[in-house]
Amino acid sequence: MRAIAVERGGDEPTVIEVDEPEPADGEALVRTLRVGIDGTDHEVIQSNHGGYPEGEDYQILGHEAVGVVEDANGTELEDGQLVVPTVRRPPGGDAHGSGGEPNEYFERDEPDMAPDGAYVERGIAGAHGYMAEYFTSEPRYLVPVPDAFAATGFLVEPISNSEKAFDLAAASRSTFEWTPDSGIVLGNGPLGLLTLAMLEDGGFERTYCLGRRDRPDPTIDVIEELGATYVDSRETPVDELPAAHEQMDFVYEATGYAPHAVETIDALAPNGVGVLLGIPGDWEFEIDGGRLHREFVLENKALLGSVNSHVPHFEAAVDTLAGFPEWFTDEIVTHVFEPEDVDRAFETGDDRIKVVVEFDEL
Ligand code: NAP
Ligand code: BGC
Ligand code: ZN
Repeated sequence: MRAIAVERGGDEPTVIEVDEPEPADGEALVRTLRVGIDGTDHEVIQSNHGGYPEGEDYQILGHEAVGVVEDANGTELEDGQLVVPTVRRPPGGDAHGSGGEPNEYFERDEPDMAPDGAYVERGIAGAHGYMAEYFTSEPRYLVPVPDAFAATGFLVEPISNSEKAFDLAAASRSTFEWTPDSGIVLGNGPLGLLTLAMLEDGGFERTYCLGRRDRPDPTIDVIEELGATYVDSRETPVDELPAAHEQMDFVYEATGYAPHAVETIDALAPNGVGVLLGIPGDWEFEIDGGRLHREFVLENKALLGSVNSHVPHFEAAVDTLAGFPEWFTDEIVTHVFEPEDVDRAFETGDDRIKVVVEFDEL
């Protein structure tokens, strides 16, 4: 079967021919429909994040997938069921993440809380991903989705990351009546825009989204169509948001630009919370640590990191995706490529928001 992979030492994905995976006992075989590409995939290709499956000289990419159960193989799933796979698997399994021994995090169904070394991530770190005609998985890592999600279901995984981030943020504000009015998403990439659409539905009175683009730009169009205000970081740095606009009750960082993490503290209103999702490389810069420490304490601010998600977040994401207006998903999925068009699929450009590789249609 065809798969999209990066070969060890290489920095460009190509189509390779690999054996179709055989489901082990207790696993189903899934036919891949679509796989989305995000900023993390580009980091993986550039060897800035993740790593190859042990003993393999290539890594199949892709962690945002939707597929259809081709062979339930005696599991509780049914042939023809549409599913979205989760990303993390126990370490110690084969190159596809199968057969690893569940540790305490997986036993608690909280693999997203596992520390480094206690998981592999399919398509990202230590296991092959879903950019192939077929993949196998245990049903506990496959989330059923409605048939209507054949084209958009690959968005469930990134949305689930934000469901978790929102849960963590709300939990950190749970000792008082937190009624956030103002919220900003830092970053107008696909994760940022999906999250902005979630904020629009979340009772915020005023929403903002930060980018660094000139108009005309398709992401600025989406931001404004969602009813949010576009903020250009070249004119308004994050720590100047209170002066230029207002203090933010909620900040969601999805740029991967490390200074934004500390600038978020200044952008927050008293009792506000910031949640960081970007994954930057090393970056040294000077900060007044004493002042930031004081801000945290005297203004009851919180700054949290959040990575990955677990099954209930995927289930919440299914409802969120179902509630998005059709124009929004139509507008953010800007490019659909066949696997053979792999070179074009992994190009970057301001005309692109979400790019997807289509292996098959339902
Ligand atoms: P992406 O496509 O790289 O998007 C990042 C966006 O941030 C881009 O649109 C970029 O603008 C913008 N940006 C970067 N620096 C900026 C600055 N200084 N000022 C204003 N805008 C800036 O990535 P993505 O797929 O949306 O994901 C966002 C980040 O979250 C990535 O770091 C990704 O690895 C991470 N992520 C984390 C999780 C998690 O579970 N924690 C889940 C998914 C993704 P331009 O396009 O104009 O350059
Ligand atoms: C994926 C998450 C993953 C994270 C860190 C994100 O792009 O969506 O599932 O945990 O990267 O590798
Ligand atoms: Zn991702």
